[in-house]
Amino acid sequence: MTNRPRLGVNVDHVATVRNARGTAYPDPVRAALLACEAGADGITAHLREDRRHIRDEDMRRLKEALPAPLNFEMAQTDEMVEVASAIRPHAVCLVPERREELTTEGGLDAAGLGAALGPRVQALAAAGIRVSLFIEPDPKQLHAAVALGAPVVELHTGRYCELAGEAQQAELERIRSAAALADELGLECHAGHGLTYDNVGPVAAIPTVAELNIGHFLVGEAIFVGLVETVRRMRAAMDRAR
Ligand code: PXP
Repeated sequence: MTNRPRLGVNVDHVATVRNARGTAYPDPVRAALLACEAGADGITAHLREDRRHIRDEDMRRLKEALPAPLNFEMAQTDEMVEVASAIRPHAVCLVPERREELTTEGGLDAAGLGAALGPRVQALAAAGIRVSLFIEPDPKQLHAAVALGAPVVELHTGRYCELAGEAQQAELERIRSAAALADELGLECHAGHGLTYDNVGPVAAIPTVAELNIGHFLVGEAIFVGLVETVRRMRAAMDRAR
Protein backbone atom coordinates (compact mmCIF):
# COMPACT_ATOMS: atom_id res chain seq x y z
CA MET A 1 0.00 0.00 0.00
CA THR A 2 1.40 3.41 -0.88
CA ASN A 3 1.33 6.37 1.40
CA ARG A 4 0.00 4.46 4.38
CA PRO A 5 0.35 6.16 7.74
CA ARG A 6 3.07 4.82 10.02
CA LEU A 7 2.04 3.33 13.35
CA GLY A 8 4.02 4.49 16.37
CA VAL A 9 3.33 2.34 19.43
CA ASN A 10 3.59 4.12 22.76
CA VAL A 11 4.86 1.79 25.51
CA ASP A 12 4.47 4.14 28.52
CA HIS A 13 1.77 2.09 30.17
CA VAL A 14 3.78 -1.11 30.14
CA ALA A 15 6.06 0.84 32.48
CA THR A 16 3.03 2.03 34.47
CA VAL A 17 2.16 -1.60 35.28
CA ARG A 18 5.78 -2.40 36.13
CA ASN A 19 6.12 0.60 38.42
CA ALA A 20 2.87 -0.20 40.24
CA ARG A 21 4.75 -3.01 42.02
CA GLY A 22 8.32 -1.81 41.80
CA THR A 23 9.34 -4.95 39.89
CA ALA A 24 11.52 -5.27 36.77
CA TYR A 25 8.57 -6.64 34.75
CA PRO A 26 6.72 -6.08 32.48
CA ASP A 27 9.60 -4.56 30.53
CA PRO A 28 8.67 -1.74 28.11
CA VAL A 29 11.68 -2.62 25.94
CA ARG A 30 10.43 -6.19 25.51
CA ALA A 31 7.00 -4.79 24.59
CA ALA A 32 8.58 -2.38 22.11
CA LEU A 33 10.52 -5.17 20.38
CA LEU A 34 7.34 -7.28 20.12
CA ALA A 35 5.39 -4.31 18.76
CA CYS A 36 8.05 -3.85 16.07
CA GLU A 37 7.82 -7.54 15.15
CA ALA A 38 4.05 -7.13 14.88
CA GLY A 39 4.32 -4.24 12.43
CA ALA A 40 4.89 -1.05 14.42
CA ASP A 41 6.91 1.42 12.36
CA GLY A 42 8.30 3.16 15.41
CA ILE A 43 8.13 3.32 19.20
CA THR A 44 7.11 6.28 21.32
CA ALA A 45 7.84 6.78 25.00
CA HIS A 46 7.27 9.80 27.24
CA LEU A 47 9.88 10.59 29.86
CA ARG A 48 7.79 12.67 32.24
CA GLU A 49 9.44 15.01 34.70
CA ASP A 50 8.07 12.91 37.58
CA ARG A 51 9.24 9.62 35.91
CA ARG A 52 5.86 8.09 36.71
CA HIS A 53 6.19 5.48 33.97
CA ILE A 54 9.18 5.56 31.58
CA ARG A 55 12.54 6.14 33.27
CA ASP A 56 15.82 7.49 31.89
CA GLU A 57 17.26 3.98 31.77
CA ASP A 58 14.25 2.76 29.72
CA MET A 59 14.92 5.46 27.13
CA ARG A 60 18.58 4.51 26.91
CA ARG A 61 17.69 0.82 26.54
CA LEU A 62 15.01 1.58 23.92
CA LYS A 63 17.50 3.58 21.87
CA GLU A 64 20.02 0.73 22.06
CA ALA A 65 17.65 -2.14 21.36
CA LEU A 66 15.13 -0.89 18.81
CA PRO A 67 15.26 -1.82 15.14
CA ALA A 68 12.87 1.11 14.47
CA PRO A 69 12.89 4.87 15.13
CA LEU A 70 12.42 6.04 18.72
CA ASN A 71 10.13 9.02 19.28
CA PHE A 72 11.00 10.59 22.66
CA GLU A 73 8.10 12.58 24.10
CA MET A 74 9.04 15.21 26.63
CA ALA A 75 8.29 18.58 28.19
CA GLN A 76 10.18 21.56 26.85
CA THR A 77 12.59 21.98 29.75
CA ASP A 78 16.38 22.36 29.89
CA GLU A 79 16.65 19.08 31.80
CA MET A 80 14.81 17.14 29.11
CA VAL A 81 16.72 18.79 26.27
CA GLU A 82 19.90 17.62 28.00
CA VAL A 83 18.66 14.04 28.46
CA ALA A 84 17.40 13.79 24.88
CA SER A 85 20.56 15.31 23.42
CA ALA A 86 22.60 12.62 25.20
CA ILE A 87 20.32 9.74 24.11
CA ARG A 88 19.87 11.06 20.55
CA PRO A 89 16.56 9.46 19.58
CA HIS A 90 15.34 9.72 15.99
CA ALA A 91 12.69 12.25 17.05
CA VAL A 92 11.51 14.31 19.98
CA CYS A 93 7.88 15.32 20.39
CA LEU A 94 7.51 18.34 22.68
CA VAL A 95 4.36 18.16 24.79
CA PRO A 96 2.87 20.34 27.52
CA GLU A 97 3.19 18.75 30.94
CA ARG A 98 1.60 19.38 34.30
CA ARG A 99 2.43 17.10 37.21
CA GLU A 100 -1.14 16.71 38.40
CA GLU A 101 -2.57 15.66 35.02
CA LEU A 102 -3.46 12.02 34.30
CA THR A 103 -2.30 12.33 30.71
CA THR A 104 -1.21 15.05 28.29
CA GLU A 105 -4.12 17.49 28.36
CA GLY A 106 -4.35 19.87 25.44
CA GLY A 107 -1.65 20.78 22.96
CA LEU A 108 1.50 22.79 23.37
CA ASP A 109 0.92 26.52 23.01
CA ALA A 110 3.61 26.92 20.36
CA ALA A 111 2.25 30.36 19.48
CA GLY A 112 2.40 31.64 23.07
CA LEU A 113 5.67 29.95 24.07
CA GLY A 114 7.73 31.04 21.07
CA ALA A 115 10.53 32.75 22.96
CA ALA A 116 11.09 29.81 25.32
CA LEU A 117 10.57 27.12 22.69
CA GLY A 118 12.81 28.48 19.94
CA PRO A 119 16.19 27.78 21.59
CA ARG A 120 15.05 24.30 22.66
CA VAL A 121 13.87 23.38 19.18
CA GLN A 122 17.21 24.60 17.84
CA ALA A 123 19.25 22.72 20.47
CA LEU A 124 17.47 19.45 19.67
CA ALA A 125 17.85 19.99 15.93
CA ALA A 126 21.55 20.71 16.45
CA ALA A 127 21.82 17.31 18.18
CA GLY A 128 20.48 15.74 14.97
CA ILE A 129 16.99 15.09 16.37
CA ARG A 130 13.82 15.63 14.34
CA VAL A 131 11.52 17.88 16.37
CA SER A 132 7.77 17.55 16.49
CA LEU A 133 5.33 19.81 18.39
CA PHE A 134 2.18 18.27 19.89
CA ILE A 135 -0.45 20.94 19.17
CA GLU A 136 -4.18 21.48 18.90
CA PRO A 137 -5.50 21.39 15.31
CA ASP A 138 -5.43 25.19 15.17
CA PRO A 139 -3.96 27.22 12.25
CA LYS A 140 -2.30 29.62 14.71
CA GLN A 141 -0.30 26.75 16.22
CA LEU A 142 0.71 25.41 12.79
CA HIS A 143 2.03 28.79 11.72
CA ALA A 144 3.93 29.00 15.02
CA ALA A 145 5.54 25.60 14.33
CA VAL A 146 6.80 26.91 10.98
CA ALA A 147 8.14 30.07 12.61
CA LEU A 148 9.96 27.95 15.21
CA GLY A 149 11.55 25.78 12.54
CA ALA A 150 9.96 22.51 13.72
CA PRO A 151 9.63 20.14 10.72
CA VAL A 152 6.81 18.05 12.23
CA VAL A 153 3.57 18.63 14.12
CA GLU A 154 1.45 16.05 15.93
CA LEU A 155 -2.22 16.97 16.08
CA HIS A 156 -3.95 16.25 19.39
CA THR A 157 -6.88 13.90 18.74
CA GLY A 158 -7.96 13.69 22.39
CA ARG A 159 -10.95 15.97 22.01
CA TYR A 160 -12.12 14.14 18.86
CA CYS A 161 -11.91 10.84 20.75
CA GLU A 162 -13.93 12.10 23.71
CA LEU A 163 -16.74 13.70 21.71
CA ALA A 164 -19.66 12.01 19.93
CA GLY A 165 -22.10 12.78 17.14
CA GLU A 166 -22.02 16.18 15.45
CA ALA A 167 -19.52 17.63 17.87
CA GLN A 168 -17.13 14.81 17.04
CA GLN A 169 -17.61 15.40 13.30
CA ALA A 170 -16.86 19.10 13.79
CA GLU A 171 -13.65 18.27 15.64
CA LEU A 172 -12.71 15.78 12.91
CA GLU A 173 -13.18 18.57 10.38
CA ARG A 174 -10.80 20.76 12.40
CA ILE A 175 -8.23 17.94 12.32
CA ARG A 176 -8.70 17.47 8.55
CA SER A 177 -8.24 21.19 7.86
CA ALA A 178 -5.18 21.36 10.10
CA ALA A 179 -3.66 18.32 8.36
CA ALA A 180 -4.24 19.95 4.96
CA LEU A 181 -2.72 23.21 6.16
CA ALA A 182 0.29 21.36 7.58
CA ASP A 183 0.93 19.93 4.13
CA GLU A 184 0.62 23.37 2.50
CA LEU A 185 3.07 24.78 5.01
CA GLY A 186 5.57 21.98 4.37
CA LEU A 187 5.13 20.36 7.80
CA GLU A 188 4.99 16.60 8.27
CA CYS A 189 1.75 15.83 10.07
CA HIS A 190 1.27 13.21 12.79
CA ALA A 191 -1.74 12.67 15.04
CA GLY A 192 -2.53 10.88 18.25
CA HIS A 193 -4.08 10.60 21.71
CA GLY A 194 -7.05 8.49 22.72
CA LEU A 195 -7.21 6.48 19.48
CA THR A 196 -8.88 3.04 19.51
CA TYR A 197 -10.04 0.52 16.88
CA ASP A 198 -13.40 2.33 16.85
CA ASN A 199 -12.23 5.89 16.25
CA VAL A 200 -8.93 5.48 14.36
CA GLY A 201 -10.44 5.09 10.88
CA PRO A 202 -11.41 8.68 10.03
CA VAL A 203 -8.05 10.00 11.28
CA ALA A 204 -6.04 7.32 9.45
CA ALA A 205 -7.99 8.19 6.30
CA ILE A 206 -6.69 11.77 6.19
CA PRO A 207 -4.27 11.66 3.26
CA THR A 208 -1.66 14.02 4.70
CA VAL A 209 -1.39 12.28 8.07
CA ALA A 210 1.94 10.45 7.94
CA GLU A 211 1.97 8.84 11.40
CA LEU A 212 -0.34 7.93 14.27
CA ASN A 213 0.96 7.47 17.80
CA ILE A 214 -1.15 5.15 19.93
CA GLY A 215 -0.55 3.72 23.39
CA HIS A 216 -3.07 3.38 26.17
CA PHE A 217 -5.69 1.47 24.22
CA LEU A 218 -3.12 -0.93 22.74
CA VAL A 219 -1.59 -1.80 26.10
CA GLY A 220 -5.06 -2.35 27.60
CA GLU A 221 -6.25 -4.48 24.70
CA ALA A 222 -3.06 -6.55 24.84
CA ILE A 223 -4.27 -7.98 28.15
CA PHE A 224 -7.01 -9.79 26.26
CA VAL A 225 -5.46 -10.82 22.94
CA GLY A 226 -1.74 -10.19 23.34
CA LEU A 227 0.35 -7.28 22.09
CA VAL A 228 1.23 -8.82 18.72
CA GLU A 229 -2.40 -9.42 17.78
CA THR A 230 -3.42 -6.00 19.11
CA VAL A 231 -0.81 -4.18 17.02
CA ARG A 232 -1.74 -6.23 13.94
CA ARG A 233 -5.42 -5.35 14.35
CA MET A 234 -4.65 -1.65 14.73
CA ARG A 235 -2.44 -1.78 11.65
CA ALA A 236 -5.29 -3.47 9.76
CA ALA A 237 -7.82 -0.88 10.95
CA MET A 238 -5.53 1.91 9.71
CA ASP A 239 -4.98 0.18 6.36
CA ARG A 240 -8.72 -0.33 5.81
CA ALA A 241 -9.26 3.39 6.27
CA ARG A 242 -6.63 4.64 3.77
N1 PXP B 1 0.81 11.44 21.24
C1 PXP B 1 1.20 12.19 22.29
C2 PXP B 1 1.97 13.44 22.02
C3 PXP B 1 0.91 11.78 23.62
O1 PXP B 1 1.29 12.57 24.65
C4 PXP B 1 0.25 10.57 23.83
C5 PXP B 1 -0.01 10.10 25.23
O2 PXP B 1 1.20 9.84 25.86
C6 PXP B 1 -0.12 9.81 22.70
C7 PXP B 1 0.15 10.28 21.42
C8 PXP B 1 -0.79 8.49 22.82
O3 PXP B 1 -2.02 8.63 23.45
P1 PXP B 1 -2.80 7.35 23.95
O4 PXP B 1 -1.94 6.70 25.00
O5 PXP B 1 -4.08 7.89 24.46
O6 PXP B 1 -2.96 6.45 22.75
